[in-house]
Amino acid sequence: MYRDFYGLLRAPFEMTPDPTFLYLGETHREGLATLVYGVRSRKGFVVLTGEVGTGKTTLLHALLSQLEPSMPSAFIFNPRLDPLDFLHVLFDEFGIEQRCRTKAEYLLALNHFLIECLKEDRTALVIIDEAQNLSPEMLEEVRLLSNLETPTSKLIQIMLVGQPELDEMLDRPDLRQLRQRIALRYHLEPFDAAELDQYIDERLRLAGYTGKGIFKRSARKALMKFTGGTPRLVNVLCDSALLTGYARGFQMLGADVIEEVARDLHLSAEGAGNRQLARSDSTGQTTQAAARRSRRLWSKLFR
Ligand SMILES: Nc1ncnc2c1ncn2[C@@H]1O[C@H](COP(=O)(O)OP(=O)(O)O)[C@@H](O)[C@H]1O
Ligand SMILES: [Mg+2]
Repeated sequence: MYRDFYGLLRAPFEMTPDPTFLYLGETHREGLATLVYGVRSRKGFVVLTGEVGTGKTTLLHALLSQLEPSMPSAFIFNPRLDPLDFLHVLFDEFGIEQRCRTKAEYLLALNHFLIECLKEDRTALVIIDEAQNLSPEMLEEVRLLSNLETPTSKLIQIMLVGQPELDEMLDRPDLRQLRQRIALRYHLEPFDAAELDQYIDERLRLAGYTGKGIFKRSARKALMKFTGGTPRLVNVLCDSALLTGYARGFQMLGADVIEEVARDLHLSAEGAGNRQLARSDSTGQTTQAAARRSRRLWSKLFR
């Protein structure tokens, strides 16, 4: 790996939502604070939106690491489920062992579990990531879940997290009832230039780097141009650029390397285009292109 070459202890730009690499700029700090506040104050429904790759799932992991371990929580990251499967996954996540066959049985058992939790002053939390993929049928299911309450207290807290389409979905007239239950809404923005700068330095530092920054000022400008400040794209570009620099023997990287890598990965330099690209990468295209590029470079290096 290129780690020794740059004096790194580990890879700084991995594509995982690892909370040890968490960087909190203004928008991420506010986003996380909204989530924590929503949970602590038992607000009921909380909605977090943001473009692909802006760091929503990363914030969810950070949230989970801050919650009391005794808090029953269910993390549903693939909501393309039918209602019965959804309840099944929910039971699994909550560790409810009772086996149910019908929806009525599930809801009864769930209600019982939630009331037991409340007796111990614990409110269960359900997090649904990629919630823009919820079918209308599943959204109705989620709304029914949010109806579970005692006369004085909510029994369950629901967090919907997804791409901007989620906002559009929730604004539909037929979802008025659900929308009225949303207590907090937050939209996560990409990094601005100053945040991007700090993000890169912070990741390098956490990876054990102690030198002068690897990415020159011109490289950072180019990164902003090609990524629009979207963390996922920043990671893909930086990782590829580090490998390229290693292959060429450059310990400091300028705009030329970033531009070359961006061209190879078919990233455009237009603000609006970036959004599309980040989106298309929800299927991992850019990440895969980067992996192919890395393999090519590696095979050249070891020929
Ligand atoms: N605040 C952050 N601190 C550290 N890394 C981040 C942050 N936000 C995003 N990332 C990085 O960007 C990648 C994409 O973020 P992710 O949370 O998967 O985005 P989303 O869920 O919005 O599509 C993550 O794998 C992570 O490495
Ligand atoms: Mg995500």
